[in-house]
Amino acid sequence: MKVLITGSAGLIGREVTSALVAEGFEVLATDRVKNDSSAAKNFVVGDLESADFVSQLDFQCDAVVHLGSIPSPVHDSDEKVFHNNVMGTYHVFASAVENNVPLVIYASSLSIYGTAWSGPWTSPEYVPVDESHPLNHYESYALSKEVNERSADMWANRSGTAFVGFRFPFCNSESAISELARKMREGDKEVLQQGAKILWGYLDLRDAVQGILAVLKSGANGSKTYNFAAPDSTAPKPTLEMLSEYHPTSKVLTPLSGYESVIDCSHWRAVYEYEPKYLLDRKA
Ligand SMILES: NC(=O)c1ccc[n+]([C@@H]2O[C@H](COP(=O)([O-])OP(=O)(O)OC[C@H]3O[C@@H](n4cnc5c(N)ncnc54)[C@H](O)[C@@H]3O)[C@@H](O)[C@H]2O)c1
Repeated sequence: MKVLITGSAGLIGREVTSALVAEGFEVLATDRVKNDSSAAKNFVVGDLESADFVSQLDFQCDAVVHLGSIPSPVHDSDEKVFHNNVMGTYHVFASAVENNVPLVIYASSLSIYGTAWSGPWTSPEYVPVDESHPLNHYESYALSKEVNERSADMWANRSGTAFVGFRFPFCNSESAISELARKMREGDKEVLQQGAKILWGYLDLRDAVQGILAVLKSGANGSKTYNFAAPDSTAPKPTLEMLSEYHPTSKVLTPLSGYESVIDCSHWRAVYEYEPKYLLDRKA
């Protein structure tokens, strides 16, 4: 199976590239940043904002894994983030459709619900948050993710290409996830606020890879987006206690008795068998 990976030099992209090469996939990797240590033999440097560059990539493949985006609104202007993420994605989706690629997997984000990067403090309307939860944006990173999901819907409507978007939570290495949890446990107020804004969600990079592999192996139809997060939280106290402290206005729809995640991944579970298994060691 031949796969084109964008954002291959990035945090998630490097892991996905290495794993797919190790699994025997033929990988064409691309990023605007060079990665001399890439596991992919075939690595092309260029900017996805350029339609010319994207049209010259090799889309004669079985799937595209699109991870090339600015991953937060923190370091670039609203306009730059929006333009980069929306136009880069548009070019990738358009070329995939033009070349009849059967499957496009792409990274959306849990930031799409709006709480992560909102200026004023905001809370989900209800928890667990499922894919039908309203999207209330305060900045253009979240907005770019919504536009990209709608873009996937449009391209799926007019082609046989299937699109699967992952609404990833904070996705990082085991040590970065442990560090975040440790700081919250030690009472770091700023990190506790950050943790609450991202709804204490997390995903180990190895699970992100396995989720992507599950879709590559099982395939997909139409255009779908899935919450995909670990089943527990990074929070230092049980979920109900954290909610009453940080999100007291959120309506709690299901019984919560422990450290359950407030991110509802049941739609994913109904379709794909893989469950995140690299979970936080609360004592580490
Ligand atoms: N890591 C997370 O916590 C997280 C959470 C939710 C969603 N995501 C999404 O996952 C994807 C990958 O994120 P990441 O954490 O690996 O980020 P990253 O910044 O480590 O990697 C993204 C890569 O995309 C490349 N890129 C960005 N714009 C580009 C362009 N115009 N042309 C070519 N390459 C470009 C960058 O050079 C970088 O190597 C992004 O879409 C991000 O929004 C990440």
